[in-house]
Amino acid sequence: MRIFLDTANIDEIRQAAKLGIISGVTTNPSLMARENRCDLRDVIGEITSIIDGPISAEVLSSDPGGMIEEAQQISSWSPNVVVKIPVSAAGLEAISVLCRRGIKTNLTLCFSLNQAILGALAGATYVSPFVGRLDDIGQDGMALVAEIVKVFKQYDGFSSQVIAASIRHPLHCVAAARAGAHIATVPYRVLMQMIDHPLTERGISLFAADWQRIARG
Ligand code: E4P
Repeated sequence: MRIFLDTANIDEIRQAAKLGIISGVTTNPSLMARENRCDLRDVIGEITSIIDGPISAEVLSSDPGGMIEEAQQISSWSPNVVVKIPVSAAGLEAISVLCRRGIKTNLTLCFSLNQAILGALAGATYVSPFVGRLDDIGQDGMALVAEIVKVFKQYDGFSSQVIAASIRHPLHCVAAARAGAHIATVPYRVLMQMIDHPLTERGISLFAADWQRIARG
């Protein structure tokens, strides 16, 4: 499983990139708003200068023509840009046109197996089931990820990669890997939590203390 960072915060991306484990970034309008930035082109430009991998940027139009036009524009900024398009009839139409034009897409706000199947049939490069938001309403988000992975594997023509999105805590990452998700897109805070373990910290302190004791004689 690969890990993308789910943020529009440049400092977080810079810090995470140093670890050598991040292969892409996902943004969305809410993440942009959280950073108080509306200059999508600049933000994407900054991210592509840090991470050499797929960077998702979302369209705001709701009609197929507008989505396609925005997508053409966004994808011209860098070969690494992936256009995020929410599930809807308009979104599927846009994805199928963009797929034929060789533009990479990420079907976002995916909450059902049917939506994921339609996204794959339209030619989406990625489909993003939102795990945390399903959990929030009492549905099993990770079960959906596992179901999508399983169904996609049954058909040769289904080449969309599954991104476990809306990840809220480290257990979601473990479960995404077990479910066979190709990618988990994680907030920076969760990435840091994935590194931590109290026994590792205790072990490091103990090694240092023992070494000091013996070195002092
Ligand atoms: C995915 O691409 C989305 O940006 C993201 O995972 C949404 O997560 P949220 O439910 O925490 O907003």
